[in-house]
Amino acid sequence: MKRVLITGVAGFIGSNLLDHLIARTDWQIHGIDNFSTGSEDNIRHQFNNPRFKFEKKNCSDVSSLKEFDYVFHLAALPRIQPSFDLISEHVRANLLEGVHLIELMVKENHYPRFVYSGSSAIYGNPAKIPTDETAEINCMNPYAFQKYEFEKYLELIATRYPLNYVTLRYFNPYGPRSFNPKNSFNAYSSVVGIFLNKWKEGKPLLITGDGTQKRDFIHVYDVAEANYCAAVYPEKLNDVFNVGHSSTHSILDVAKMISDKYEFISKREGEAEITFADISKAKKVLCWGPAISLESYITSAIKDIPVSK
Ligand SMILES: NC(=O)c1ccc[n+]([C@@H]2O[C@H](COP(=O)([O-])OP(=O)(O)OC[C@H]3O[C@@H](n4cnc5c(N)ncnc54)[C@H](O)[C@@H]3O)[C@@H](O)[C@H]2O)c1
Repeated sequence: MKRVLITGVAGFIGSNLLDHLIARTDWQIHGIDNFSTGSEDNIRHQFNNPRFKFEKKNCSDVSSLKEFDYVFHLAALPRIQPSFDLISEHVRANLLEGVHLIELMVKENHYPRFVYSGSSAIYGNPAKIPTDETAEINCMNPYAFQKYEFEKYLELIATRYPLNYVTLRYFNPYGPRSFNPKNSFNAYSSVVGIFLNKWKEGKPLLITGDGTQKRDFIHVYDVAEANYCAAVYPEKLNDVFNVGHSSTHSILDVAKMISDKYEFISKREGEAEITFADISKAKKVLCWGPAISLESYITSAIKDIPVSK
């Protein structure tokens, strides 16, 4: 039985990872979250589970990692547009809070497998389509830069101390809980969740720009499984892997899958024209691949039935 820590457990991906690991393993899971963007509603259903313990706290308030075999580091302020305005708040959340965990591992001389939630935002507007892990890094916004900096800290500190990490660069995760009505940064959450919410309210979907920008949408259950595969891989990896579906859809096409009522609003600067993951490395090394398509999720969400894996 393994002991694991999930930071950011009350968020969209963290809470889905929690449910996935509870269902898939016999692990004892400790979750922390400061509720800056996450919500207790996402994890309350696990509160009576003896395999789950929750503490409301910042990563920087974690005093020891000694008891853990695996650490899944998801805590962040993961929104592109607000990272231009609230700069120091984003540097703290996306970089310094995680650096504290690296320092703890070094201080305690204890190196659990550290699975880091990285982002495809670091590729910017990639010249290589589909984009593999060797593509040029081009951070177009502070959020991307902070996500990349943390990756680099893992890489650099591992040259001196025996860190044991895996970075997963997520493309565009979607799925249950991606839209949190209590989150003030909601306008920047997954477009699939925003569109489905507008559709439920009977309102037109708002498409930024002309809608030709394309995204590689990956279901959060597939993201959770990638985290599991990265944790249990038997040897030290200290490597990065793309986690996407390896397909791409324009935002206009996604809107049309959901509703025929949509409108166009102004384009947002600092965001990529296309994301499209080459996932051959994760397939080959981690034996991981996506199981859910965007089309099947949207069909299930519209009919209000669970998506089949
Ligand atoms: N959702 C995406 O589109 C996407 C894409 C690529 C990468 N990621 C990465 O995946 C991870 C999870 O993202 P998400 O979409 O679930 O976001 P989210 O905002 O739903 O979850 C992040 C969670 O971290 C918590 N948190 C923030 N700062 C904290 C701190 N200092 N201490 C403790 N908890 C803290 C928040 O309250 C929230 O519950 C992030 O690291 C993000 O950068 C997300």
